[in-house]
Amino acid sequence: MTGRLFEVSPGGKLVGGARVPGDKSISHRAIMLAALAQGTSRITGFLESADCLATLAAFDAMGVTHVLDGDARVIKGLGLHGLRQPSCALDLGNSGTSMRLLSGIMAGQAFDSVLAGDASLSRRPMKRVIDPLTDMRAIINGQAGGVAPLHVTGGQALRAIDYTPPVASAQIKSCVLLAGLYAKGATCINEPGISRDHTERMLRAFGVTVDKDGSRVSVAGEQELTAADVDVPSDLSSAAFFLVGAAIAPGSELLLTGVGINPTRRGVIDILLRMGADIQLTNEREQAGEPVADILVRGSRLKGVDIDAHDVELAIDECPALFIAAACAEGTTRVSGAGELRVKECDRIAVMATGLQTLGADLEETDDGIVIHGNPAEQAFGGGQIASHEDHRIAMSFAMAGLRASQPITIDDCDYVDTSFPGFVDLAAAAGLAIRTSGSS
Ligand code: S3P
Repeated sequence: MTGRLFEVSPGGKLVGGARVPGDKSISHRAIMLAALAQGTSRITGFLESADCLATLAAFDAMGVTHVLDGDARVIKGLGLHGLRQPSCALDLGNSGTSMRLLSGIMAGQAFDSVLAGDASLSRRPMKRVIDPLTDMRAIINGQAGGVAPLHVTGGQALRAIDYTPPVASAQIKSCVLLAGLYAKGATCINEPGISRDHTERMLRAFGVTVDKDGSRVSVAGEQELTAADVDVPSDLSSAAFFLVGAAIAPGSELLLTGVGINPTRRGVIDILLRMGADIQLTNEREQAGEPVADILVRGSRLKGVDIDAHDVELAIDECPALFIAAACAEGTTRVSGAGELRVKECDRIAVMATGLQTLGADLEETDDGIVIHGNPAEQAFGGGQIASHEDHRIAMSFAMAGLRASQPITIDDCDYVDTSFPGFVDLAAAAGLAIRTSGSS
């Protein structure tokens, strides 16, 4: 056990108002597109987390200048062909989005590059981007087993492809679309399911024509990007911990403001509503081409539901938090079609199952999901020591379990929370979670 610990005392409720930080997916894309655009873009609400700062540092290493102006990141774009060769490998830390999207961009450059990451990122599957990029005639090589570091040989003339990814993944889709900007002709993706569409939305905001016909998305190559200002909404994936926390803790009443509710991502809200949560969306509006709302959530009695592959696609990052809700709901929750959870920052099915069992939950793991028999008692969980496996979303999910625990919960390796949610502990404590950190990073 290493790093910072979360220590959560049992009980409490979440009340008041909270503004969670900017959306991680949108922040990454804002930096990338601003860097590739002609002109200067102003990004407000940018998520100042380790993952997004890794993307920013990568472009910095390729000659893209950025300054902080108040709370805005101001990026001077270099155009599609203006990046400079970095002097060393681009270190993308823990960030899968950085690595997979950047691999598409680097495939189109005139120079060679190396994309590297930490131990967790170096275990994650990269064949899913190597294959389509190779089809496009990029030269990109990973290590044995198709993992990072990735070596990209520049100077290749990319060809447009018509591609059906093996899984619904916004990272694969975005990688191919970004590489498609450097190819002659139209690059098409046929999505095998639903994945978040932030790249398509933001490309349009930067002046690129993106066509969509049902599950088919395409982009013609050699389109210039024009600088645009992006006001990043709050991240629904970060709000999800608070949605679940307030929904499971009796007496809670929490207003989360300015949260992105993109239809390709709002599964957590709809699943919680099906579970009987008291959630109201107000003040719905548009921000940076994305739908946004204020979300009011109150504590209520939840019931178990079936969560299928389609639900999982719409709530891929929120499943760990939803498993906590399921474990203190009345009845059984059956999750299927969730195999992708096994290749996230950790195997999120196995790690959640182990942690929930430590807290006394009754469940069975399946190949592509989990069956959780909820315990609706006020103190649904015991207490104990949880291994987060260096996964931010595991750590924050188990922190919320404290609201329905009978004993303290300690969670290890919580430094990784900063990859997506700097300030989580302060915000959660201000809302009423009895959480504190100990140990050093
Ligand atoms: C992301 C896409 C999803 C998600 C990840 C962020 C993105 O990954 O889990 O946290 O920003 O495109 P997959 O594309 O692997 O599903």
